[in-house]
Amino acid sequence: VINVASLLALSGLMPPGPLPHRAVYAAAKAFTVAFTQAVAGELAGTGVRVQACLPGLVATEFHSVQGMDLSKIPRMTAADVVTASLAALAQGEVTCVPGLDDPSLLERLAEAQRAVVMSANRPTLAHRYEATG
Ligand SMILES: NC(=O)c1ccc[n+]([C@@H]2O[C@H](COP(=O)([O-])OP(=O)(O)OC[C@H]3O[C@@H](n4cnc5c(N)ncnc54)[C@H](OP(=O)(O)O)[C@@H]3O)[C@@H](O)[C@H]2O)c1
Repeated sequence: VINVASLLALSGLMPPGPLPHRAVYAAAKAFTVAFTQAVAGELAGTGVRVQACLPGLVATEFHSVQGMDLSKIPRMTAADVVTASLAALAQGEVTCVPGLDDPSLLERLAEAQRAVVMSANRPTLAHRYEATG
């Protein structure tokens, strides 16, 4: 099962957030990634392979039907996205980012997310939120 998300799934984490007018799209793609990663965990060991694919800009009709002309902006071909996705599936990658050369960046992102959850899931307020008056 390959769910096509987008690099915009990650943009909500970066200030100033998703591009203007892309809030629902970015949120839906973030859902797609989180849902897919969770389902992949639930199906581990069953033989069903699950992947979230996060392309950047791809040369399809996606933007032109929205009235945007991105023809002068370099974009990945759809064929290359498919090549990356199938290679990632064969390699057992749950999260495929076709344009990402350094996959350790994804591991560092996951580590940072784990660190936030592990250090923040406690019964006491963070110091900066404690009442000062
Ligand atoms: N292009 C990019 O830069 C880019 C980047 C990252 C992620 N993505 C993701 O890649 C996926 C494919 O997009 P694409 O770039 O290939 O766009 P596309 O060329 O516009 O193709 C979109 C496809 O979705 C179908 N579709 C649209 N609305 C639908 C609906 N309500 N019900 C059923 N089918 C519907 C369209 O069918 P019809 O032709 O019949 O309308 C078309 O076949 C999308 O999930 C998109 O978010 C695209």
